[in-house]
Amino acid sequence: MKILAIESSCDETAAAVFEDEILLSNIIASQEVHIEYGGVVPELASRAHIAKISAIVGKALKSAHCTVEDIDAVAATYGPGLAGSLIVGVTFAKGLALAHNLPFLGINHIEGHIFSASIENSELRPPFLALVISGGHSLLVLVQGVGTYQILGTTIDDAAGEAYDKVAKIIGLPYPGGPNIDNLASQGDESFVKFPVARIKNQPYCFSFSGLKTAVLYKYRSLSEAEQNTHRADIAACFQKAVIDAICPKITAAMQEFNLEKMVMVGGVARNSALRATMKELSVKQRFQLFVPAGIFCTDNAAMIGKVAQLRFANGEKSELDLSVSPNLSID
Ligand code: KG4
Ligand code: ZN
Repeated sequence: MKILAIESSCDETAAAVFEDEILLSNIIASQEVHIEYGGVVPELASRAHIAKISAIVGKALKSAHCTVEDIDAVAATYGPGLAGSLIVGVTFAKGLALAHNLPFLGINHIEGHIFSASIENSELRPPFLALVISGGHSLLVLVQGVGTYQILGTTIDDAAGEAYDKVAKIIGLPYPGGPNIDNLASQGDESFVKFPVARIKNQPYCFSFSGLKTAVLYKYRSLSEAEQNTHRADIAACFQKAVIDAICPKITAAMQEFNLEKMVMVGGVARNSALRATMKELSVKQRFQLFVPAGIFCTDNAAMIGKVAQLRFANGEKSELDLSVSPNLSID
């Protein structure tokens, strides 16, 4: 079965083709129009999706060596995300489904991130723990099956990627901040300053990154311009250490409490090199299997949407063509 999947929930216009468990193509166009604003501008994002979607879908089909006539089903992200962006992908997918009499399926973006870990590991099966850390989300999810999710914790303020992007801005690095902090931190001294790691009373699996961001702001402002330049990498390294220190104990506790043997770390922040290395060490120490997708499958992509579509179409599911986008869609 060949599935064409479309992702347009934020600022990536993406399309992919799966044939059963094999990913035939995966095309992503990142929108550069937002760089000068230091963050995603929703109106510009939807316009850019409209301008690009047809060409991106065409490229995905071409690179999979097929035409739309070879496609058996169409899927698109219908939430959560920016309404104007979601509408472009969903409407395009529905149009194709209607014109070519194909089944259509709306897919949850977060569920896509969770199963991005099985794009390269089709043998991966629930139960497992999922740490979803991206620009818009920080979630710890108990995955019991496809469609059976228990959110153990979420962020009470900023998402992890949002904290990276805001801290980057504070210390004068360009958007998106995550990769820039990652690079700079590798040259910094983690012991330069100790930033606070938030623990939330009675919510052991919830995250909070806003206090950390403020602590970075105050520390950075307390330095002279010369000190800021000398210690920029140190601040990046200390911030990153605090993020990792906030995440790791929650993983250890959840794996033990729910008696799990496998976990996945997914979403844009899962690209972070220090976090990947620390989680690998933790998995060895705590004796669990860790699945982290290749970088290209961590940030928003359509292959992850195709992966969930493949699992759900196999269960006989399909959506009606009047399915609306759902900007605040949850997974539980
Ligand atoms: O999953 P994603 O592409 O979009 C959302 O669904 O939000 O994640 C984007 C986020 C951005 O905040 C970006 O700064 C962060 O992922 N990110 C990173 C790295 N690469 C991307 N954060 C830390 N280290 C990285 N190497
Ligand atoms: Zn995402």
